Amino acid sequence: MQPSRQDHGVLSFEDLNSYCTGEHNYLLAHWDSLSQDERFSLARQITQIDLGLLQRELKSQVQTCDASELSRRAMPPEAIRFSDRTPELIEQAMRLGGQAIRSGQVAMVLVAGGQGTRLGFDQPKGMYAIGPISGRTLFQMHVDSLRAAMKRYGVSIPFLVMTGPSTDQPTREYFSSNANLGLSQDDLLIFQQGTMPAIDATTGRILMESRSSIALSPDGHGGIVRALAKSTWLEQAKSRGIRYLFYAQVDNPLVRACDPLLIGLHILKGSQATTQVVQKRFATEKVGNVVEVDGKTQIIEYSDLPEEIAKQTNPDGSLKLWAGNIAVHVFDVEFLDRCSQSAEALPFHRALKAVAHVDHLGNLHEPKAPNAIKLERFVFDLLPAAEKALVVEALASESFAPVKNAIGSATDTPRSCQKAIVDLHRKWLTDAGARVDENCVVEIHPAWAWDEQDVKQRISHPVSIHCDTYFT
Ligand code: UTP
Repeated sequence: MQPSRQDHGVLSFEDLNSYCTGEHNYLLAHWDSLSQDERFSLARQITQIDLGLLQRELKSQVQTCDASELSRRAMPPEAIRFSDRTPELIEQAMRLGGQAIRSGQVAMVLVAGGQGTRLGFDQPKGMYAIGPISGRTLFQMHVDSLRAAMKRYGVSIPFLVMTGPSTDQPTREYFSSNANLGLSQDDLLIFQQGTMPAIDATTGRILMESRSSIALSPDGHGGIVRALAKSTWLEQAKSRGIRYLFYAQVDNPLVRACDPLLIGLHILKGSQATTQVVQKRFATEKVGNVVEVDGKTQIIEYSDLPEEIAKQTNPDGSLKLWAGNIAVHVFDVEFLDRCSQSAEALPFHRALKAVAHVDHLGNLHEPKAPNAIKLERFVFDLLPAAEKALVVEALASESFAPVKNAIGSATDTPRSCQKAIVDLHRKWLTDAGARVDENCVVEIHPAWAWDEQDVKQRISHPVSIHCDTYFT
């Protein structure tokens, strides 16, 4: 059967067939058996794929870069180390960061478009209850921190949430049914990132998730550049005088929203793209390695860094490539806008994954072993594109506790994250002179104290803190 344009309102079979330029006609293998709605949805999916771009990506034999060759030339990055933080530098940066926030030049984006496969939670990761006592969700933890920043600086700060195809609808519903977690509607923008089709690793063909839909997955956190450009937010931000975008991941509730120190250092050093790092605990730790190659700051994924290079040490025994990426960044809006104007600004990375799919006969295959190539862009590939990039070291205990894996796994679980929150809040309290038993669980809401200084103002004389106290 050859359906006409009226069949589904978008394109005829012939149009789609020629859109597929012969090479991808297999996408229409089940066309005859599809309902009108299914045809409509398949036609939309097909026409949303940039087949030319996909074809070019797949034909290029070279990976976006030869990681092991790159690793051999990698040097530690020039960075503001934690020990370089003099009181004068802190004071100057806090002043600049504070001024930028207070004058409405800062917005925050939280990337929450990933599928959260490893956590094995059936809702968007942001809805996971992580507060050790409060049970606040990851989304709440970030918004509470942001609202504390708004209160401190007396300004409203736009909050952007990037979702993906599987997290978009539930995230929107979550925010709207929880009164936007206290944010005004004007301060909140939820936008969806793009997708890329999964490719059969053997045949190079696009995989079908069902007879009427393509196996699509989010195009990586680097998809933020394209998605922001599509949403016209960058244009509006520039005209509203927003100059800096603070970037964080939904799965790290220890991050301080719009950290004034990091923003201040970014401004002070004239950076376009700043990244916060922590000292790696051991050579092969599973974090991206922030390095410098040919004078450019770059990140080499742990999986791409040969072990012998990861294990290189300095004469004092410390790791040569010490800087671990924690995905907390500050970007100049101008710089993001420039990058968004070139579709190729960020390269694609390929990952081999097991992807369930339907074949041309309509049979479902659920492979256990990787069978497909997924193409993703990574936000940190913006760093080498910056004329000036900055690397700032933070302490992991104060800024990094990711929720990646399910309870019971060895690392980066909800339990390890909760422990990190409790340890940090207990330290703030004891440093302020309070007595807290070292096994006591405590939690501080950012409205009570956003940082260590706030806690010192709250605790004016030595007090004993009861276990399970939630300061709110
Ligand atoms: P991860 O790469 O750790 O992925 O994302 P994930 O989706 O959370 O979990 P797994 O790998 O499926 O288990 C790091 C951050 O980047 C966001 C995630 O939501 C998380 O905040 N991300 C990732 C996106 O926003 N979009 C993507 O396409 C990928």
